[in-house]
Amino acid sequence: MRETPPRRAVILSGLGGMAAAGLTSVTACSTQADVADGAATSADVAQARTGAGGAASGTSADGTPVAGKVCVPGPGTAYRPFRGEHQAGVDDEPQPYVAFVAFTLPDGTDKEALRRLMTVWTDDIERLMSGRGTLTDQEPELAAVTARLTVTLGIGPRVPALAGVQVQAWLAPLPAFPSIDRLDDRWGQGDVLLQICADSPTTVAHAQRRLITSAGELVTVQWIQRGFREPFSGIPSGVPMRNLFGQVDGTVQPDARGVDASLIWAGNEAPDWMRGGSSLVLRRIAMDLEKWDRADRLSRENAIGRRLDSGAPLTGTDLNDTPDLDAVDALGFHRIDEAAHVRRAHGSGVERFLRRPYSYDDPPESGARVNSGLLFAAYCTDPVRQFIPVQRRLAEKDLLNLWTTPIGSAVFAILPGAGDGEILGQRLLA
Ligand code: HEM
Repeated sequence: MRETPPRRAVILSGLGGMAAAGLTSVTACSTQADVADGAATSADVAQARTGAGGAASGTSADGTPVAGKVCVPGPGTAYRPFRGEHQAGVDDEPQPYVAFVAFTLPDGTDKEALRRLMTVWTDDIERLMSGRGTLTDQEPELAAVTARLTVTLGIGPRVPALAGVQVQAWLAPLPAFPSIDRLDDRWGQGDVLLQICADSPTTVAHAQRRLITSAGELVTVQWIQRGFREPFSGIPSGVPMRNLFGQVDGTVQPDARGVDASLIWAGNEAPDWMRGGSSLVLRRIAMDLEKWDRADRLSRENAIGRRLDSGAPLTGTDLNDTPDLDAVDALGFHRIDEAAHVRRAHGSGVERFLRRPYSYDDPPESGARVNSGLLFAAYCTDPVRQFIPVQRRLAEKDLLNLWTTPIGSAVFAILPGAGDGEILGQRLLA
């Protein structure tokens, strides 16, 4: 199997955890792409998957994956392109399963160590997303089920400093919101983040394990947060998920691929190494399902300002109707409560961001009966200007706070995508 020199150099330099045995034993091809060419290009992969040379959906005429589209539909083998201006896993349709994995960098990590980490992970992620096992993959058959895998890499506030560049003002833990926060250090700020999403939980687990293994001693796992959305088509494609309160969630969104792209992706205002990147605010929010059980349907709908069945605003009939925040009932009261979540969360202008929430439902702890909630993931170019004002409003007043409690919080810079021949963080680590 042919390897690009940088990856070989990194491995031969003795990266911890990558046993020599792994290097020699992994000779099996994981997909037809590997059979066709040990150092398969993206075009090779696309072609091998579609059979005799025909361009698939999501590929250009020459078979090269097109950024932002799913290539080669089919159970288990659909995959998303890795290379492009932006990383995958932000503005594309959320896959049903996620693992957010945060890492700590050991003391003494320098720019060279960061470069080695990014070199290894870039290679691994590209391989995994295209259905090839990683270099030391002992189970390449698992990697062959791409299941629209995306691995999105983020960095915490320590990394720019270690790389010798200025840290963005927004790349810092959020301010405290004492009226609502009950933060547990267990889910706190990390140095590096991998957001791993796929249609298959096995694919997520496999990618997670390969990436942790290949990083060796360069990182320590700090926490892993697993989440899910509805995997079945009962909710038609394009319609957002239902969270564990049963609410349709994720309806009002910026047009991330259209007029609002500049709200999500950093442009010329950002330093060179961030252009094409984004930010992720990840809040772990516990949802008290037992208390929610005791609320009647009217109270539940008032709390959010939308109907539970259709997700339509209380002032409309269709999911996509715009909530009328001025509408009043016969007694002159607002039909959407003063403290309803959608009223308090509604932002105009720059106070908007892309939400990509996942539910979690973990084993209850210490005598509790439920341990459920939302992995609230929000992406934007500048959380200080876009996210924090909204979060502040919600902390001041939001009926939903009766049932929800933020217990984890972290902010990451999502690096720009890797262009041809580049590693993730190329311009940061140049
Ligand atoms: C467990 C916690 C939360 C739950 C269950 C929840 C649920 C919902 C639901 C059901 C909607 C209405 C449908 C939609 O447009 O998606 C909504 C809207 C929204 N939520 Fe949340 N949410 C939570 C936390 C948050 C947080 C922490 C923020 C931001 C700080 C936020 C920001 C928004 C925004 C911006 C909207 C759209 C408002 C509009 O109509 O313009 N939510 N949320």
